[in-house]
Amino acid sequence: MGRSTPAFSFSLLASLALGFALVVQAQQNPVFFFLLNLQGFISIDCGATNAYIEEGNNIAYETDERFIDSGKNMQISTEVIYQNALQLSKNLRSFPNGARNCYTLRPGGGSNNTYLIRASFWYGNYDGKNQTPSFNLYIDVNYWTTVSNGKYIYEEIMYVSQTNDIQVCLVNTGNGVPFISALELRTLDDDIYRLGSGALQLNWRHDIGLSLKKFIRYPFDVYDRIWEAKNYNFWFILNATSAIDLSENNDAYKYNISGQVLQTAQRSMNASSPMHLEWTPSISTKKWIVYFYFVEIVRLTDGLQREFTISINDNQFKKTVSLEYLKPVVVISTPVTGSLISFSIESTNNSGHPPILNAVEYYTIGDLPNVPTAQDDVKAINDIKAMYCIKRESWQGDPCVPSNFTWEGLNCSYGNPPKIISLKLSSSNLMGNIVSSLSHLSRLEYLDLSNNQLTGAIPEILAKLPHLRFLNLSGNNLTGSVPKALNKRAMDKTLNMSLTGNVALCLADPCLQRKKKRDILIPLVASVSSFFVILFGALALVWLSKWRRIAELSKRTLRLKNRPFKYGEVSRITGNFGRVIGEGGFGKVYLGTLDSGTVVAVKMLSKSSKQGYKEFQAEAQLLMIVHHGNLVSLLGYCDDSKHVALIYEYMANGNLRQHLSGVFKMQPTGDHLKVLTWSKRLQIAVDAGQGLDYLHNGCKPPIIHRDMKTTNILLNENFQAKIADFGLSRAFATENDSYVSTCPAGTPGYLDPEFQSSGHLNKKSDVYGFGIILFELITGRPAIMRSRDGSTSMHILEWLIPIVERGDLQSVMDPRLQGEFDINSAWKAMEIAMSCTRPTAIQRPDINHILAELKESSVSKSSGSFEMTSLELHSDNAPVTR
Ligand SMILES: *[C@@H]1O[C@H](CO)[C@@H](O)[C@H](O)[C@H]1NC(C)=O
Ligand SMILES: *[C@@H]1O[C@H](CO)[C@@H](O)[C@H](O)[C@H]1NC(C)=O
Ligand SMILES: *[C@@H]1O[C@H](CO)[C@@H](O)[C@H](O)[C@H]1NC(C)=O
Ligand SMILES: *[C@@H]1O[C@H](CO)[C@@H](O)[C@H](O)[C@H]1NC(C)=O
Ligand SMILES: *[C@@H]1O[C@H](CO)[C@@H](O)[C@H](O)[C@H]1NC(C)=O
Ligand SMILES: *[C@@H]1O[C@H](CO)[C@@H](O)[C@H](O)[C@H]1NC(C)=O
Ligand SMILES: *[C@@H]1O[C@H](CO)[C@@H](O)[C@H](O)[C@H]1NC(C)=O
Ligand SMILES: *[C@@H]1O[C@H](CO)[C@@H](O)[C@H](O)[C@H]1NC(C)=O
Ligand SMILES: *[C@@H]1O[C@H](CO)[C@@H](O)[C@H](O)[C@H]1NC(C)=O
Ligand SMILES: *[C@@H]1O[C@H](CO)[C@@H](O)[C@H](O)[C@H]1NC(C)=O
Repeated sequence: MGRSTPAFSFSLLASLALGFALVVQAQQNPVFFFLLNLQGFISIDCGATNAYIEEGNNIAYETDERFIDSGKNMQISTEVIYQNALQLSKNLRSFPNGARNCYTLRPGGGSNNTYLIRASFWYGNYDGKNQTPSFNLYIDVNYWTTVSNGKYIYEEIMYVSQTNDIQVCLVNTGNGVPFISALELRTLDDDIYRLGSGALQLNWRHDIGLSLKKFIRYPFDVYDRIWEAKNYNFWFILNATSAIDLSENNDAYKYNISGQVLQTAQRSMNASSPMHLEWTPSISTKKWIVYFYFVEIVRLTDGLQREFTISINDNQFKKTVSLEYLKPVVVISTPVTGSLISFSIESTNNSGHPPILNAVEYYTIGDLPNVPTAQDDVKAINDIKAMYCIKRESWQGDPCVPSNFTWEGLNCSYGNPPKIISLKLSSSNLMGNIVSSLSHLSRLEYLDLSNNQLTGAIPEILAKLPHLRFLNLSGNNLTGSVPKALNKRAMDKTLNMSLTGNVALCLADPCLQRKKKRDILIPLVASVSSFFVILFGALALVWLSKWRRIAELSKRTLRLKNRPFKYGEVSRITGNFGRVIGEGGFGKVYLGTLDSGTVVAVKMLSKSSKQGYKEFQAEAQLLMIVHHGNLVSLLGYCDDSKHVALIYEYMANGNLRQHLSGVFKMQPTGDHLKVLTWSKRLQIAVDAGQGLDYLHNGCKPPIIHRDMKTTNILLNENFQAKIADFGLSRAFATENDSYVSTCPAGTPGYLDPEFQSSGHLNKKSDVYGFGIILFELITGRPAIMRSRDGSTSMHILEWLIPIVERGDLQSVMDPRLQGEFDINSAWKAMEIAMSCTRPTAIQRPDINHILAELKESSVSKSSGSFEMTSLELHSDNAPVTR
């Protein structure tokens, strides 16, 4: 009941975005901020300091922060900055260091999808040297083009990616410092620009006959292709008086071409003169592909049809087309080459009307000869890079390819695909354990990790690397014994292994030291209530927590009571259960005061019959060492034959649900009820996000909360939010035991829809619950909304999604805010909440990503007019008439 969640349709939103695009057109509307991202757009203003929405086209640009590690933000010279009104042209990122610097784009569509990728450049004398640099651009492992123009230009490619990530790299060729102004990616949903091999590089894209504007792009073009206005003097301009037919049964639909682009055209002066265009390619061996767009926009009254033949370079390509009124036709040429490319469009004898041309795209085929490194190796080496925080200039882009950019310390074999065969990270300040990702480098022959501060045991899996013949781990702080399998290979002389200088490493077999360690672990489980054992136990439990927490931890261990409370003590600190501060189906919560004077909340629970004493105790011990400013600390517990009590830090302002529904009475004054302001709500979301991030990413192993909901978000006297009851749902009966008897954990309304099919709760289930909490903060409504008489109920998403899809944010906002909120940040919050509650776990982001989004609260607006901006492709000698 009430637990079904409407599937949130991705494509629905995408098509919705189109609807909006047409309705609101140039109007500034933050709805785009979240719709655009869903639509497969990535728009990066390189070098920008904050995100913004570009006026005129409503494209939301973000900074390049999450796409690249290297480079410097720079500003265009103030002397020329006014020359281009486009916000993204005004700053850039430059790369004085490193031979290759790469942006990593992660489009949702993944591999084997076609993407339009556009890189923009404007030197604008940003470095005051008045010297335009020249450098190369790579798309993944292949050369794309050379950039060497001082004007504002862009390069565009239609690219089918082989991998999930796409990297755009700037390569220093010794002719000046590479830089980039903007990088845009658009996901194309079908194969209209897909080649068998290679990629289409745009040379020009013309909207013929357009004269009132300089160009047309998004939102008129759904893929944000930029159609530049083009008029040829000797031809006659035509303008449609009726709407172009864009229905499913013609080419405009298939190629997603806007009526705006097609409604203007040019024709030759009379039926006997052809339309002729020609140009001289800078590289004569390049293969060209031309996309022609035609539609009859003149109502012909003489009963004849316009019919013409397109031919390129002496019939390398030839095709005859006849047009029906308002029905678009797209013709794509086969690849053509020559030192001069010329095409003509000539009327056939039975046409009687001059030829016409509405729009045209000119592409050359870019070869993609290089094969990227095997993806397993790429993933493994990137994991290694992340785990050891390796920051080296060359460690960007593909690890092996092209071969002169192989990462420093790596050697590769260049088969198909290339693989990593040697890794040398000696004297590189590596800390922590030897990571298991190393064992995924399946062709590895040579591994040198000497002279670092590696700790822990040597993993057995290293012996499983079939090709490993050299292993140097000397000069580290490794412990434990050497895995038998490695010793055996060293004895066999199939492995040259060096382990000297690891003082605590036990070389003998069997290893005596190791046995001793095991003995220490046993009393920990038994948990004898002696102070020393607990302290030792806490240290042994370090795997549960981060290294740097040890100091804090042992301090806490000294301060706090480390054995279970007796029932009598619980009774005493609560003044014989004198003051009830909360009540639920599970039992009551009492106010208490510890001997130290600390005010606490004591929660009495019904005892779960399924849970054994030891498991309970182990879990409670574990939770007592988890500390974070946004988690309600468990200070102690009591577990005797009849009673279970949990002793928590006291949170003066109750739970978030009470505040949102207005039932919380301010304790001392009690008379007036404060409404949480919008900014306070955002702060609460950030607080809760931080707490959850700590559970998921700060604790090892991660802790899954399993019951994220507004009644578990508590507020202290300063309204700082903390998450309560984490990790407990496994150990204790849930509060709502009575009415979710079939569920092991979770609360209706907050339950991950995937859980019902898989039965698994994981991090992403918590993210789902977090999303529902966000929706409650935005709307003030509970997760399950009930009718007044209680007879019917509705999930918050069921109610909200149809309204938001209409773009009506105002109607869902909490009325108690009385309109006092920033519309942009409200949309942003809505966007985040939507992403958290996507139907499948895989679609939901990690909490640390969500947290970053939440924190990035300010969304500024750009100034300047889009219409006045000049845009230019790299090549200047566009096709001319003869
Ligand atoms: C890639 O996509 C194309 C067309 O969409 C399909 O024919 C082909 O099989 C796909 N290739 C792979 C490796 O998935
Ligand atoms: C073409 O026609 C449309 C509407 O019919 C009009 O808005 C537009 O200004 C015209 N353009 C030209 C170049 O005449
Ligand atoms: C493009 O057109 C195809 C039909 O050919 C359609 O399925 C798709 O949704 C369109 N894409 C966009 C972004 O409108
Ligand atoms: C057609 O136009 C061309 C050039 O515009 C001109 O030279 C020619 O005389 C015209 N022919 C007719 C039949 O009008
Ligand atoms: C069209 O007419 C011209 C002269 O009138 C003639 O030379 C040509 O062969 C005709 N073409 C076709 C395809 O009939
Ligand atoms: C990398 O190698 C290619 C040819 O293999 C060469 O053209 C290019 O200049 C080299 N780049 C650098 C930076 O050495
Ligand atoms: C890679 O190969 C080169 C040339 O064979 C050699 O000089 C270098 O030491 C090797 N590097 C590693 C990490 O194996
Ligand atoms: C292993 O590394 C250490 C320190 O870098 C070095 O001194 C030693 O010679 C290396 N051992 C072998 C067998 O190469
Ligand atoms: C090993 O650890 C000890 C203390 O834990 C430290 O003093 C020593 O410098 C470390 N040795 C190396 C090689 O890192
Ligand atoms: C192990 O490697 C080192 C350095 O490459 C070399 O000097 C030594 O002879 C090798 N030892 C064996 C037993 O192959």
